[in-house]
Amino acid sequence: MQIKTVEQYVDTYRKSVADPEGFWSEIAGHFIWKKPWEKVLQYDWDKPEFRWFEGGQLNITENCLDRHLDDKADRTAIIWEPNDPNEEARKITYRELHKEVSRFANVLKKQGISKGDRVCIYLPMIPELAIAVLACARIGAIHSVVFAGFSSKSLATRIDDATCKMLLTADGGYRGTKTIALKEIADKALEISETQSVEKVIVFKRTGQNVDMLEGRDIWWEEALEGASADCPVEVMEAEDPLFILYTSGSTGKPKGIIHTTGGYMVYTAYSFINVFQYNEGDIYWCTADIGWITGHSYIVYGPLLAGATTMMFEGVPTFPDAGRFWQIVEKYKVNQFYTAPTAIRALMKYPLELVQRSDLSSLRVIGTVGEPINEEAWVWYKKNIGNGEVPIIDTWWQTETGGILITTIPGVLHDEPTYAGLPLPGVQPMLFDEMGEEVEGFPSEGRLGIKFPWPSITRGIWGDQERYKRTYFSFENRYFTGDGALRNKRGYYRITGRVDDVIIVSGHNLGTAPIEDVIDDHPLVVETAIVGFPHDVKGNALYAFIILKQNVDEEDELALEINRLIAKKIGPIAKCDKIQFVPGLPKTRSGKIMRRILRKIAAGETSDFGDISTLLNPEVVEKIIQKNSAL
Ligand code: WT7
Repeated sequence: MQIKTVEQYVDTYRKSVADPEGFWSEIAGHFIWKKPWEKVLQYDWDKPEFRWFEGGQLNITENCLDRHLDDKADRTAIIWEPNDPNEEARKITYRELHKEVSRFANVLKKQGISKGDRVCIYLPMIPELAIAVLACARIGAIHSVVFAGFSSKSLATRIDDATCKMLLTADGGYRGTKTIALKEIADKALEISETQSVEKVIVFKRTGQNVDMLEGRDIWWEEALEGASADCPVEVMEAEDPLFILYTSGSTGKPKGIIHTTGGYMVYTAYSFINVFQYNEGDIYWCTADIGWITGHSYIVYGPLLAGATTMMFEGVPTFPDAGRFWQIVEKYKVNQFYTAPTAIRALMKYPLELVQRSDLSSLRVIGTVGEPINEEAWVWYKKNIGNGEVPIIDTWWQTETGGILITTIPGVLHDEPTYAGLPLPGVQPMLFDEMGEEVEGFPSEGRLGIKFPWPSITRGIWGDQERYKRTYFSFENRYFTGDGALRNKRGYYRITGRVDDVIIVSGHNLGTAPIEDVIDDHPLVVETAIVGFPHDVKGNALYAFIILKQNVDEEDELALEINRLIAKKIGPIAKCDKIQFVPGLPKTRSGKIMRRILRKIAAGETSDFGDISTLLNPEVVEKIIQKNSAL
């Protein structure tokens, strides 16, 4: 299953296109199935519908855990590094993880959860988060992990959308010098939840801070576990039964509950993990993401565990106790594969190199990034200082919706090239197309990025909104539309140029502008808001809000702060705007559509070359915005 040479890559790729069913069935054959599939793939782009391994039955945790008990029971499955380096780390073997997952799965059942129920998980980066995810999967409950940095409002929206029956949380969480009152935020979310669907809350004690426990609803994790058996037979799942929901921002309105199903997701995450990271037995693998994002789902939990790997979980932040923390952890555990985000690299680049040089990084064999384009400067710094000028960099392109990495340069097989993610993995068929939807062939070329053949972990839907699913990803014939623009160079390498819709990637977080605009618009003094991204040297992009007020205010700075506090409260601190400008109007087309193109230019500091603005409803407003902008 592991590609080792260029020739093998080329051959495998050809085979995957000529005979996709044969290609994927061979890979799927490496897993334990309770019942073999009857048909590898059935699909229909128009409906749209994708069914992989139809008729097959399995449980993903049997493949993540039980399967390894024969020969890897005492191997470390999870290494957990706490926020505070003076606190003791934890190492959990496959045998122990199997036991803990089984016990907690029995707790879930006892508390009324059964197959198909939705369980919301709002936990910090502690092993119990991985245990909770796997326990849900073991009994066929659909997990919906919500990043523990989200506000009560965001949590409530997600709980309501999936009508979750249970919430798993902690008293609090540590992040650097901060302590986050998770239970308090969760309580508030349950109070404002419209569906009131949550019946039970299980609370893990992490910080020991005071919390309110509601009788009849809230139970301590430890107490719930008392007497729970370590024997929990797996629930037999159909290949297409949902495994989880994970929310991601959309260009309009509420977040999208992206659905992934069992069989295809399992096959793709394991296959991509083994190839992209070139993981070999005994390696120590570390992905710095949070399990609250897809990266953590696929490449901290499922992919590595399916491969029998040792996967690290880090509770803290890269700058605590100082900005050398990542590198000290790499040395401490002799990490072989290190996977992080461009925004983290850009942040750490700013510190003295001594913080890197004091650690021995010679164990590293692969260093990777994900989440947004990595700019050349950061790439070069990463290669030189972390990779000693020689360790291959993998710039991995994928999305919540794709379930796994689709485009990168397999290390040791394909050469890395700054700003280019690289080539598709075998089984993945990218395409570029123009605004009319026509495929753009040849090299070099440019266009919107689509995928013209289904792969096993393609999202199967948006929870509760198949219409939106169709509209968002399948509006062009016979392909999946990624929402990204891309270039293709002479070698066929893809370079992702960014979103072509109203989603902005800030520090690797995918933020829809509309929900943030909605929050600002709710302020009593605000008439209308438009948010655009502008280049930021650490975050990649930052948010710039143009706001029309009902009346002039004397204390604009005060109001800007207030608006940011509101955003932090309603959405989360990651959605705060770096710049807020109060404007007399917004440039609009005659049909009333805000000309974001112009605002983006202004936000980037441009003062001319706005193209033809004479067709605007209100061209005079552009000049007014610029005047005030340059005076800022
Ligand atoms: C969007 C998906 C996949 C996990 C993290 C983000 C951007 C992602 C890259 C990359 C350029 C990238 C795209 C994509 N993106 N990786 N290597 N190079 N852009 O998942 O929140 O679903 O966001 O992130 O714009 O569409 P997500």
